[in-house]
Amino acid sequence: MSNPLIDFSQPGLWLSAASIIFNPTFWNIAARQEYHNKVLTKLFRGNSQYACYGLAVTIFSLGIIRDAIYERALRTQPTHPFLETPFIHNLSYGLFLSGNVLVVSSMYALGVTGTYLGDYFGILMDAPVTSFPFNMTDAPMYHGSTLSFLGTALWSGKPAGVALTALVWGAYTVARWFEDPFTTEIYAKRERERNAGKKTT
Ligand SMILES: *[C@@H]1O[C@H](CO)[C@@H](O)[C@H](O)[C@H]1NC(C)=O
Repeated sequence: MSNPLIDFSQPGLWLSAASIIFNPTFWNIAARQEYHNKVLTKLFRGNSQYACYGLAVTIFSLGIIRDAIYERALRTQPTHPFLETPFIHNLSYGLFLSGNVLVVSSMYALGVTGTYLGDYFGILMDAPVTSFPFNMTDAPMYHGSTLSFLGTALWSGKPAGVALTALVWGAYTVARWFEDPFTTEIYAKRERERNAGKKTT
């Protein structure tokens, strides 16, 4: 058992896994509590816009903490020679860069409230965004973030990073099972209300 791919005895690995799972779980619970009980809006004295900004700052900060824990965790993990080849190393830059382009351009296209679950606060977009990067993939924020994790894993040559990236992908996939039908229904509801409004006027 010399040279394991992943050193499971490192607490940092488990802390990183926990924070990867915690973040999307937290924002889904917070957003649903807002939608059903207006919990965050009440916290911000009835101002939904500020409440959404508050959630945005919280999610953004949790993301920075999660990324820092991940990078720290990788430092104590073994490297693998296969991941240290020039090809993989060059690939890592491309993945990290394209991942960041997807994340930053989605935020730019959606704005703060669009990015950070504004729909749950009743702050709806006028129309679905179809411009770049939404013409490339349906979930550019999630895919971009996953690519950045993979880029970091390959850049540092750590198989543990690849495993944690798989967990990121899994956590986002589960998050989307909850989020996608929910937001679709929020917009469908508005559509029904608009149509009902048309009939009575
Ligand atoms: C998406 O939009 C960008 C920028 O407008 C464009 O360069 C790109 O070719 C488009 N991609 C697809 C798949 O349509």
